[in-house]
Amino acid sequence: MHKWYHIASRDIDSSVRQGRKSMAVSWRNSSNLIQYGQTQAVAMNRAVQKIRSTISFVRRFGVLGFLEELRYRMADLYYERRLGVETAGRHTVKDLGFANAEFMDYDPIWYREIYSALNKIPLDKSTSTFLDYGSGKGRAVIAAAALPFKRVIGIEISDRLLAIAQKNLDTMRHKRCKRVELLLIDATQYVVPGDVNLIYFYNPFAGQVLQTVINNIYDSYKQSPREMYIVFVNNHHFENAIKNQPWLTRIEQRTFHHYDYDHSCGIYVTKASCSQKARRLDPASAEGWERVTE
Ligand SMILES: C[S@@+](CC[C@H](N)C(=O)[O-])C[C@H]1O[C@@H](n2cnc3c(N)ncnc32)[C@H](O)[C@@H]1O
Repeated sequence: MHKWYHIASRDIDSSVRQGRKSMAVSWRNSSNLIQYGQTQAVAMNRAVQKIRSTISFVRRFGVLGFLEELRYRMADLYYERRLGVETAGRHTVKDLGFANAEFMDYDPIWYREIYSALNKIPLDKSTSTFLDYGSGKGRAVIAAAALPFKRVIGIEISDRLLAIAQKNLDTMRHKRCKRVELLLIDATQYVVPGDVNLIYFYNPFAGQVLQTVINNIYDSYKQSPREMYIVFVNNHHFENAIKNQPWLTRIEQRTFHHYDYDHSCGIYVTKASCSQKARRLDPASAEGWERVTE
C-alpha cells in the first residue's frame, strides 16, 4: 500500500510536472503567436496609414507634387546609404533641452538642396573652407566632406546631436576632405577663422542670436577681407538681419516647395567686385536659381 502510494504519487508528480511543462510550452507558443499577430497587425496598420497619407498627399499636391517629393526622399535615401550615415529625423529644441525661442529645431537639409547650392559656388574647393552653423547630426558637413574641400567645420549647440554627427563622420564612406572638425559651441561664441570662405546656414536660429553671428562673420571679414560666400536656406530672417550690411550682397535666389511650405535659398557674397563674381556663377547648373541684381 505504502509502496503503491509512493509509485502512484511519483507518477502523479511527474505527470503534473509534464503537464506544467507542456502548458508552459503551449503558453509560450500561444504568447509567441499573439505577439506575432500583434506585430503583423501593427505592420498592417502602418501600411494602411502610409497608403492613406500617400493618397491624401496626391489629392492635395497632385501627381507632379508627389513625384517631386519622391525625388527628394529617394535622393536622401540614396546619399545616406552611399555615405553610410544616419542623419534623418526631427528633434525639437525643447527635446534637446533648450528654452531659447531663437534656436531652431533640428531638421536635416535635403541632400538635393545642399548639393544644388554647393554646385553654384564658383570657389576652388581644394583651397576653400566650408563652415556649417548648427550642424546637427552632420548632414551638411558630411555632404561637404564628400567633396574635395580643404577644410570643413560644423558647429552645434546640442551635445546629443554632436555625438551622433561625430559617429556619422567616423563611419562615413567616400570622404574626400582630409580635415573635418565638429565643435560643441553656441554659435554666438564662435570666432570665425580667417580661412572660412563658404558659410552654410539651414535656418539654425533667428533674432538676436542671428544678428550676433552676422556681426561675428563681419569681424572675421574685416580682419581678413576676402571673397566669402554665404548660403542661407529659408532666408527671410537673414534678409531682414542684413538690411544694413553693405558688405554683403545677394546674388542668387531659389524657391522650392515641400508639402505646404515654400522654401527659399539665397546665396550672398562679400560686396567687393560681386558683379564680377556673379558673372562667374555657372548658369548650366541653374536648377531653378534666379540671378538677383541689387
Ligand atoms: C535646421 S537644423 C540644421 C541642421 C544641419 N545644418 C543640416 O543642414 O542638416 C538647425 C540646427 O541648429 C542648431 N542650433 C540652434 N541654435 C544654435 C546655436 N545657438 N548654436 C549652434 N547651433 C544651434 C540646432 O540644434 C539644430 O541642430
